[in-house]
Amino acid sequence: MSEKPVLRIGLIGSGFMGKAHVFGFASAGKVFDLPFRLEFHTLADVSDEAARAAARAFGFAHATGDWRAMVTDPDIDLVDITAPNALHREMALAAIAAGKHVYCEKPLAPTRAEAEEMAGAAARAGVTTQVGFNYLGNPMLHLAREMIAAGELGEITSWRGIHAEDYMADPAAPFTFRHDPAGGGALGDLGSHALATAEFLLGPVTRVMGDSVTVVRERPDGRGGMRRVEVDDISRAFLRFASGASGSIEASWVATGRKMQHDFEVYGTKGALHFSQERFNELHFHSTADRAGLRGFRRIEAGPDHPPYGLFCVAPGHQLGFNDLKAIEVAGFMEAIAGRRPEPFGFAAGAHIQTLVEAIRTSAQNGTWIDIPE
Ligand SMILES: NC(=O)c1ccc[n+]([C@@H]2O[C@H](COP(=O)([O-])OP(=O)(O)OC[C@H]3O[C@@H](n4cnc5c(N)ncnc54)[C@H](O)[C@@H]3O)[C@@H](O)[C@H]2O)c1
Repeated sequence: MSEKPVLRIGLIGSGFMGKAHVFGFASAGKVFDLPFRLEFHTLADVSDEAARAAARAFGFAHATGDWRAMVTDPDIDLVDITAPNALHREMALAAIAAGKHVYCEKPLAPTRAEAEEMAGAAARAGVTTQVGFNYLGNPMLHLAREMIAAGELGEITSWRGIHAEDYMADPAAPFTFRHDPAGGGALGDLGSHALATAEFLLGPVTRVMGDSVTVVRERPDGRGGMRRVEVDDISRAFLRFASGASGSIEASWVATGRKMQHDFEVYGTKGALHFSQERFNELHFHSTADRAGLRGFRRIEAGPDHPPYGLFCVAPGHQLGFNDLKAIEVAGFMEAIAGRRPEPFGFAAGAHIQTLVEAIRTSAQNGTWIDIPE
């Protein structure tokens, strides 16, 4: 049997997502029959010291405080960006110019123009890209999509999506990159996930109408002072889908008590689905075909009948975890790099989500519906 080709990873950032990506790469190579043997080559962070410590912990052979040197290193095949949003564009463009495949966390960039520039550069260079919309890898979302496409819910009439957490609810929580006036805010951070899930299940959104508010108007700047917050803490949008369905999404990072409410309800003429990311191994299905007296939502638990669950665990109901979603994302990306499938969610798809985000922002300022270009 011939050896698999090696794919060498250069990771930028070792925070929350950096670690999740390392878990994803590490278990994807064991759970899936990947087209490559993955090698943790170099980790880049803000300083040599920080990079060395993270490289040791995560098992990278090399470390650097200079991401620019890393992305042009001929030994690196894939650049993985888990740095703050405002850095995504510069890092990705440099990696693409060096001919690397690029994995980038969401949101792809703070603005639509930057995201489109990145998508254009990747397309021209012919490199393969992936944006970190990990929730789309969930087997239960794939089941929901199949059920909707097969007409098991009848004609889809409406959608309610939400992504609510409470990590910014405390006014004493400091100003971070997530509050950057250029592209920060709950809508870009969390609403982007809600929009990606809505379109994954119901197809393209054609019109949006937004509303945004800032709840905490200033936050500690980390230097003993306070800094004014200009971005949204809560955003909502009405949506119209190309299918004719109507819907809404809500994004909030001040939803006290909510930890990971990436939830949706979708209603059709023959049934409905309800899903909560806080119980993401379950999908709730109501069918109007059930006889009177038995109608209600039934709970479907994830198991080997819902691929690729069975590759992780042979037993139903034992549950996948957040990092497993990253492994599924990595596996799809690797298949795309090998040319075995289209990009699961590449830069063009990420730029489209930024188009929706920006349209909702504009609508929230203008108070008007905005059409989304095809
Ligand atoms: N897909 C998801 O579910 C999800 C969840 C959380 C965050 N994210 C995204 O991941 C990205 C990072 O978020 P996080 O929560 O991991 O942030 P974080 O602050 O925990 O980590 C950021 C990392 O980037 C490093 N970094 C910062 N500036 C750098 C530079 N100039 N050069 C090299 N490294 C640098 C930091 O030192 C840190 O290691 C953001 O784009 C965020 O939106 C996605």
